[in-house]
Formats: sequence, structure tokens, C-alpha cells
Amino acid sequence: MSFANSHEIVTNQDGLNENLDEIVAKHLKHTFKKPYQQHSIDGFKAVEIQIGQVNKPVIFDSCCGVGDSTVKLAKLHPDHFVIGMDKSGHRLNKNEAYEQHGVDNFMLLRTDLNDFWRLALEAQLKIDKHFILYPNPWPKAKHIQRRWHGSAVFPTIVALGGELEMRSNWRLYLDEFSQALSLVGKESSVVEFSPEETITPFERKYQASGQALFKLTSEL
Ligand SMILES: C[S@@+](CC[C@H](N)C(=O)[O-])C[C@H]1O[C@@H](n2cnc3c(N)ncnc32)[C@H](O)[C@@H]1O
Repeated sequence: MSFANSHEIVTNQDGLNENLDEIVAKHLKHTFKKPYQQHSIDGFKAVEIQIGQVNKPVIFDSCCGVGDSTVKLAKLHPDHFVIGMDKSGHRLNKNEAYEQHGVDNFMLLRTDLNDFWRLALEAQLKIDKHFILYPNPWPKAKHIQRRWHGSAVFPTIVALGGELEMRSNWRLYLDEFSQALSLVGKESSVVEFSPEETITPFERKYQASGQALFKLTSEL
């Protein structure tokens, strides 16, 4: 493998995961009851306060990494309030001070989305758009339950609603997500695309190494 392609996905799957339908069905049947961590609850309260103050439609930028996409989305959607979330404080801390971006319609939050999404749904938070850009692929077949569509929080992602956009350099991840959506009666499309301007560090990295990029969209 050449250095340029070192980020390419290596998987032992040659099609949709054979256990996908069964796993999604299991998660649809049983409510995800894992107790919330206190810092997730505190983080969510902080978000609720901010949203109450700005009074704008909300965009989620889930798994935002360093938050570059959060700032770009805030610039692209000045009439919205964008919440960038990642569990890695180390990544989020790499983002420069808010005021340097020239936009203030966003916030970054360190949180575990397994908690945050459920808290948002319980609070009946309305979201207009939901971006999940380059989620961790977990390419080994046995790790299917670590992919968002194979996780217990999948029904929550769907129930949160909004226009969903996911991006990945691994088409199969998105095809699986699309199949999971079809099991809950939601239509989606997966297409190859080539961004004129990259909006995340991972996107930049994949494009620079000549990899194909894919996008899933769905009206949830
Ligand atoms: C491959 S990186 C992509 C980051 C960014 N979207 C980009 O494209 O540059 C995946 C990100 O998902 C985050 N992540 C994974 N599981 C998460 C969870 N349960 N809650 C919040 N963030 C999570 C990781 O910390 C990581 O920053």
C-alpha cells in the first residue's frame, strides 16, 4: 500500500453486514436505557440555554472532530445555530477562539453522542439539519455494532429528524446506513461526490490521497 493511500478502508466485508437487519431490529424493539453521564446532562443543559437565547433553527454537526465543519456550516447558514459535538476534548481544543472565525452562530461541545442524542430527543429539541461527517468506520465485520446504524442509539438518530447528511470514504458504511433507514421506512440516497471545497480535515486528507468520497442524504 502506498503512503498516499494509507487512509483507505481495509475491510473483511464484501457486502452489507450479514447481521445488519437483525441488529437494527433488535435495537428498534428494545429502548436504549444506558444511564446518562452527569457531564452529558450538564452539557445538554448548556446547549438548551444557548438555543433559548439565540432563537434560531438548529443544525447538529455530530462527530465534528476539531470543529472546522461547524464553523463552515455556521458561515453557510447564518440564520441557523450550529452545534458541533465530539467526545474528544483534545480534538475540540484544537479549534481557535470563537471570535477569530467572524461568526458567532455556533458552539462546540464535548459530549458522548450516545447520551446527547437521547437527551435532545427527550427534550423534544427540533433540528433542521443533521450532519455526521466521516464517522469512525469500524471496518471489521465484528465491529458492526460500533457503526452508528448498528448501535443502540440508531433509532434515536432517526427520531431526531431533520435533513440528514452523512459523508464517508467508505461507501459500504453509507449503504448499510441506508439499508438500516429502509427498515424504519425512510428513503435515502447514496452518491459519490467531489467537494469543491473540503469542509473537514478528514475530507481534506481523503481527497488529497485521491480517494472517492460518498454522501448519504435523507429527510428524516
Ligand atoms: C473520523 S473522525 C471525523 C472527524 C471530523 N468529522 C472530520 O471529518 O474531520 C470521527 C470523530 O467521531 C468522534 N466520535 C466517535 N464516537 C463518538 C461519540 N460516541 N460521541 C461523540 N463523538 C464521537 C471521534 O472523537 C472523532 O473525532
